[in-house]
Amino acid sequence: MTWFEWQSAPKGDFAVVGDPISHSLSPVMHRAAYAELRLGLEYHAIRVPAGQLGMALEHLAELGYRGVNVTLPLKEEAFLWADRTEGIGQWLGVVNTLNLESKSALNTDAPGFLSTLSECGVAPGSSVMVLGAGGTARGLIPALVEASYKVSAWNRTRIKLDDFVWSLAIDVEVRDEADPSGCDVVVNTTSVAQSGGSLPIDWSRADENCLAYDVSYSKEATQFLKQATEFGLRTQDGLKMLVAQGALSFEWWLGKSAPRTVMIGAIHEYFKSNA
Ligand code: ATR
Repeated sequence: MTWFEWQSAPKGDFAVVGDPISHSLSPVMHRAAYAELRLGLEYHAIRVPAGQLGMALEHLAELGYRGVNVTLPLKEEAFLWADRTEGIGQWLGVVNTLNLESKSALNTDAPGFLSTLSECGVAPGSSVMVLGAGGTARGLIPALVEASYKVSAWNRTRIKLDDFVWSLAIDVEVRDEADPSGCDVVVNTTSVAQSGGSLPIDWSRADENCLAYDVSYSKEATQFLKQATEFGLRTQDGLKMLVAQGALSFEWWLGKSAPRTVMIGAIHEYFKSNA
């Protein structure tokens, strides 16, 4: 995927910014949506290192950009940059969507994730166990609690999770073991796949209707999902969530309904042609 340094970015309308940025699939899905609706807009991937977001956004605004999606490691910096944050991002202190004209911000990761849970038939009140206590988990856990799910969580380093839950004073059961029994959904937010390791989770204890949900996405199923499949469980990878957050950003910027099926199809196509 072509990407630019922010200092040498071309003119455009929208972009995804972060560091690294070369792997981002956001241009694929947003461009597909623009083409489908004949909007004639440009979306680019632009590398912005930590600490340079303010300068970069000023430059991009001068080039005509109206909004950006923000990915790692800039989500907190983006929150601090904005004059106003809408929705749950205010509470989370991290955002992934900025409007450069109004200097306002929105977190679409959390509502995007919640919308995919409903699509998977998992309603509020269901029991969800989140694995991990990194940036992704910190965005999802409070959103799940606010949406009235019964939330439990496990992390390899328990103290991190204890500190987080305590600091927000939210109703989350911190578990000593990643035990899936009684859970309607188990959500993997850890970066275990990157190190080639596996999580200490005994799927034989899961209920047969349990959904194994990995927020990461790649051409091949992760070890976490493969293991759940071996036990006959339903699985969901992060592609739906990626598209859900992108679609909500699109709708916030443009006030039009996003063509989600086209956006998912474009990413499948991209994976196929880059096999
Ligand atoms: P992100 O911002 O993408 O959520 P992160 O902040 O780097 O990523 O957090 C990584 C998460 O993956 C942490 O919860 C980490 O557990 P620790 O807090 O114990 O470090 C978890 N993680 C990474 N490698 C892991 C492994 N091999 N086994 C279990 N958990 C792992």
